[in-house]
Amino acid sequence: MDITNYSPKGRIQNKHLLTLKDYSREEIYEILSLALKTKKEYKSGIKNDELSGKTLAMIFMKSSTRTRLSFEMAMRQTGGGAIFLNANDTQLGRNESISDTAKVISRMGIDGIMIRTYGQNDVEELAACGSVPVVNGLTDLYHPCQVLADLLTAYEHFGKLAGLKLAYLGDGNNMAHSYMIAGAKLGMDVNIVCPKEYAPLSEITEYAKSLGSVKITSDIRAGVDGADIVCTDVFFSMGQAKDPKKEALLTPYQVNAALMKKTGKSSSVFMHCLPAHRGEEVTADVIDGRQSLVFEEAENRLHAQKAVLLLLLGENRIK
Ligand code: CP
Ligand code: NVA
Repeated sequence: MDITNYSPKGRIQNKHLLTLKDYSREEIYEILSLALKTKKEYKSGIKNDELSGKTLAMIFMKSSTRTRLSFEMAMRQTGGGAIFLNANDTQLGRNESISDTAKVISRMGIDGIMIRTYGQNDVEELAACGSVPVVNGLTDLYHPCQVLADLLTAYEHFGKLAGLKLAYLGDGNNMAHSYMIAGAKLGMDVNIVCPKEYAPLSEITEYAKSLGSVKITSDIRAGVDGADIVCTDVFFSMGQAKDPKKEALLTPYQVNAALMKKTGKSSSVFMHCLPAHRGEEVTADVIDGRQSLVFEEAENRLHAQKAVLLLLLGENRIK
């Protein structure tokens, strides 16, 4: 089954979106189907006020352009509002606990929380201690919202997801983890192509392998061969110091024109969550070239996040 023959139910069981580990294939299809529908309606000028009167609190312990914009605009475009809480301007930045923060936010008439932070445990604690839905806007381990937008982009481009081959090159980070989990659940072939020193965490790799087709390899030619999607991410994620040794090990995995040719397919596309560093993990000719879908991915953050918010905060949510 692919989204094409999935019948949306308009609701999901989950209260939170902490990691795509908690979502079944059908629940991921549910989000993507709603994103496709609301995107079409939005482009046709159809108004949506399903989140009228609802407010999302957005906590950022790390920087953001796309995540902040997409969540804030998704709330506005569905009749709701968003409150931006920058860690440095809140008591969280002065070590107030996550559990006290969760309890306070839950008593202020807030309907949901989106948080971008370091530890996955903090996101989980926020969900456990508060009474409102929590969405993971990126942790050191996962970036589920970005991967939903990327799946939406891939589906729009290829008309399917199952059977697509995705090769992720570079650091085995939060993006690699989320691609492995979601890709395996949806029947994609996921290759993480990286030096062994920067492989994804072994427990996440083992979990993803138990779900579907996931391979970790340092062999670039074998890893990229036949790929429909080639993607990468920064060498140094937020919170990591620049390290010349890491840079030297990751540089051979740079996505450049010669690497794109190794797919053997002129139809293959390039994806990157952004922000990108041209000349490091990707060359300008690739990211700005005909195969690149990076701005479609960025645009789809809005539609994917809107679908997540409608399903978690909307009236149809299973309480
Ligand atoms: N891709 C992504 O999450 O972008 P921001 O860091 O700008 O939110
Ligand atoms: N891996 C990157 C993704 C940024 C959107 C980071 O965590 O900084």
